[in-house]
Amino acid sequence: MTEATLRYLPSMSPAWRRETDVVIIGAGAAGLSAALDASRAGHRVILICKGGVGGGSTRHAQGGLAAVSEPDDSLDSHIDDTMVAGAGLADESAVRQLVADAPDVVRYLVDLGARFDGGSPGLEGGHSHRRIIHAGGDAIGAEIRRVLCKAVLLADIEILENTVALDLLRDEVGVAAGIAVGRLAEESDEMVMGEINARVVVLATGGFGQAYLSTTNPPELTGDGLALAARAGAVLSNMEFVQFHPTVLYVVGQRGQSPLLTEALRGAGAMIVDSDDVSVMRGRHERGDLAPRDVISFAMFERMHSISDPLEHLWLDARAIGASRLETSFPTVVELCRQSGFDPRRERVPVSPGAHYACGGIQSDIDGRTSIPGLYAIGEVASTGVHGANRLASNSLTEAIIAGRRLARHVVGALASAGRGSETARSVPTTSGRGVNPSSRALLAETMSTRVGVVRDREGLDEALEVVARTPECASSMLDLATIETTNLHTVTLLVAYAASLRHESRGCHRRRDFPAEAGRLGHSLSLVVSEGRVEARRDEMAVS
Ligand code: FAD
Ligand code: SIN
Repeated sequence: MTEATLRYLPSMSPAWRRETDVVIIGAGAAGLSAALDASRAGHRVILICKGGVGGGSTRHAQGGLAAVSEPDDSLDSHIDDTMVAGAGLADESAVRQLVADAPDVVRYLVDLGARFDGGSPGLEGGHSHRRIIHAGGDAIGAEIRRVLCKAVLLADIEILENTVALDLLRDEVGVAAGIAVGRLAEESDEMVMGEINARVVVLATGGFGQAYLSTTNPPELTGDGLALAARAGAVLSNMEFVQFHPTVLYVVGQRGQSPLLTEALRGAGAMIVDSDDVSVMRGRHERGDLAPRDVISFAMFERMHSISDPLEHLWLDARAIGASRLETSFPTVVELCRQSGFDPRRERVPVSPGAHYACGGIQSDIDGRTSIPGLYAIGEVASTGVHGANRLASNSLTEAIIAGRRLARHVVGALASAGRGSETARSVPTTSGRGVNPSSRALLAETMSTRVGVVRDREGLDEALEVVARTPECASSMLDLATIETTNLHTVTLLVAYAASLRHESRGCHRRRDFPAEAGRLGHSLSLVVSEGRVEARRDEMAVS
């Protein structure tokens, strides 16, 4: 087998330079809250984002935000549910911190003007109490985006939209010193290269759902921050744990982002059924249609791949909820279905599992510190140990905002004690290459979906790594957005397939056909580091409680 190695982007001479205290890459829940709090503390902040401010997954979130608020609920119960979902790999101290800080997130957003739905909070799969805060029925993300963007736009923050982070810059002793970026010219594919020197570099670039053919993630989520950190040699962990959401709208021929049909629909009585209207979850799990997502996605996969009656997709039947409740509690879902030609009030809607959430990422602590001094990672791009082998529903928005705020507090202290420092830290470019030819993108996505998807096995993972190894480089070292994204998606494919090939068990959202059970009492997190293009693995033993 040919060895699969990392590909590097060409390094380009910058046409412009900026200098700041803190540069934050990504303007979703994590990046926006970090920028706001760091700026309020008096630091100079530059916030860059690939598209417009407030892009990413955050604005698409439907289900809610998990935080204990009811008298019959408790922090211990939220901790237990998160640990159970994490399947032995969640880090209890990080989980305790998340759960303890969660109610503050709600107060923070309310202070910024957020309007949450009244009445008792919602219930979602894996939660043993009602603790899901909703807004606009099924539009929590839009409300979080609204208030955070409004506050950020009013604050003293320099925002660079249509600006793509390329590679980390480091000073002569290896400390992160800034970021190389490309600014997209208006109405053309051309990029103007630049450098932002900063004393603190924060990655808040979200997930990598676009590595798959079908995903809930928007088009800009191509794993850029993760790949950039891999190229810089940061430690990454739990890369094999990709959460697939069971109910993603299935539209013939659709590629990339597909509408999500929130789990809350099943909380309200919707059911996943096959072509004969038989419940897919009947007899499969005590919680039926509210079983953990990996259990449901696997049951759907098995039904869809049945030898006697294979199906391209299944259906979500939400008619039992009733037309008027669907309209008032799920307006986003009704509208998204309508745009694709379906009416969940009157008919079953086609669904299949799609890539939804990256449980692993850049190894970091709860304040965002990574293995590279001066480099921080927060939100979905980070792996703090909170999610372990599987994420509990609605914990990620909570985590993103907690991480953003904690990062800002940490940075304020770190910058104050370090003094002002050099204004012009000399940057050292990372290894340079030609990038991956964009013509490979479709094959990489198909490989991820068919070989590194809901169910994996050795043969498929070896094939995936072979595809990665054989992916051609670009002929020239010109840099455009398509090359940058394809190179990053190639890195994601390498890291996820490699980590999945090393985990000889089924745990959380990593399911192996050839190793169907969990391996023993001890769980371990897998850490990966790239050195001179080669991926090296490390095992961190962790006792299962
Ligand atoms: P994002 O919100 O994804 O933001 C990433 C930012 O990084 C964007 O601004 C993007 O443009 C920018 N970026 C990316 N690459 C670059 C680059 N190279 N250069 C510059 N900028 C870059 N979680 C819940 O807790 N509850 C829910 O109900 C829920 N529902 C969801 C529904 C959907 C459809 C999806 C997709 C996710 C849902 N999730 C939910 C997950 C949750 O929304 C995300 O985990 C969370 O929003 C991530 O926030 P973030 O700030 O880390 O990243
Ligand atoms: C959903 O609404 O089903 C998604 C919630 C989540 O991903 O946390």
